[in-house]
Amino acid sequence: MTGQGRDPAFLAVRDLTKRFGGLTAVSEATLDVREGSITGLIGPNGAGKTTLFAMIAGFEQPSAGLVLLDGEEITGRKPHDLAKLGLARTFQIVQPFAGLSVRENIAVGAFLRLPKRRDALALSEEVGQRLGLGPQLDKPAAALTVAGRKRLEVARALATRPRILLLDEVLAGLNPSELRDFLPVLQDIRAGGVTILMIEHVMQAVMSLCEHVHVISGGRIIASGEAAEVVGNPAVIEAYLGPGAAQRLAAHA
Ligand SMILES: Nc1ncnc2c1ncn2[C@@H]1O[C@H](COP(=O)(O)OP(=O)(O)OP(=O)(O)O)[C@@H](O)[C@H]1O
Ligand SMILES: [Mg+2]
Repeated sequence: MTGQGRDPAFLAVRDLTKRFGGLTAVSEATLDVREGSITGLIGPNGAGKTTLFAMIAGFEQPSAGLVLLDGEEITGRKPHDLAKLGLARTFQIVQPFAGLSVRENIAVGAFLRLPKRRDALALSEEVGQRLGLGPQLDKPAAALTVAGRKRLEVARALATRPRILLLDEVLAGLNPSELRDFLPVLQDIRAGGVTILMIEHVMQAVMSLCEHVHVISGGRIIASGEAAEVVGNPAVIEAYLGPGAAQRLAAHA
């Protein structure tokens, strides 16, 4: 059950702020993620996307603001406790344990809920198959391609059995055919009941996967709405292309 009348969003971020010394990386960010959705978080390089994820998932302490999961305040809790509550994230810089097999790497996530090695490895097998890593399960993680490492990163997070998954650029660096193959995997995860909030630069993926998109620029949420509507918003175009860009584009239309 979501919200129970306290807040309708499954994940609610309210005025979340992070200051690193004199730099405000995220400034009063407010956004909602509806249960069962795939929601996008887009914005130019250095906009504060990863920092926002790090605060939501407990890796950075917010300077101010609140995070609520299913109506319960979770601000500033430790990553391990949040994972137990059902919130998992992937990392933009993927660093698998190179000497361990793919199966063992996925088990690192599975151990959260399954302390017995045998059970954790069985879940790893199931999740690995689902992510299309079946033929690679017994190979060392170091042998994976970039696309394979991205799948492994999602598998490790999924093996914690999350209710909500925060994906940080899991499609970055994939070629067009790898990208095409990965989109149904993400749709399948959502169909299995996992809500997804994804940071993504690949607009084709954002447009085909996300119902709702939030745009962050200079640490502030500058637009929120349906994907098609948001990408045509002049403030969003200018955040990516610079001041006056929306007008210049319109003049050439
Ligand atoms: N630990 C930190 N200490 C100091 N500054 C930081 C730290 N982490 C991030 N920053 C700064 O905060 C700002 C936002 O960075 P962040 O990584 O959140 O952006 P991003 O939107 O994820 O960018 P990208 O698209 O390049 O991944 C940047 O100016 C970055 O240099
Ligand atoms: Mg980032």
